[in-house]
Amino acid sequence: MSAMIVCVCKRISDHQIARHARAGMSFDDIQMELGVATQCGRCEDCARGVVAQCSVGQPIAALHRAPCACAEGASAR
Ligand code: FES
Repeated sequence: MSAMIVCVCKRISDHQIARHARAGMSFDDIQMELGVATQCGRCEDCARGVVAQCSVGQPIAALHRAPCACAEGASAR
């Protein structure tokens, strides 16, 4: 499964966010750790969605979903 860049400003992928979420970190923790959504903020909803879907207790398969609109610009770079 290829990674999708969620945060273009900080070049943070959904895999990085998911790994931290599965380790039990909250969105705020991950934001502090990785810096996701700390610049333009456009990725915040998408990043929060990844955290919600990958938090402890959620099935890993939930990560397989359609990319959100905030990642569309990432593939063009
Ligand atoms: S895309 Fe994440 S802060 Fe700008």
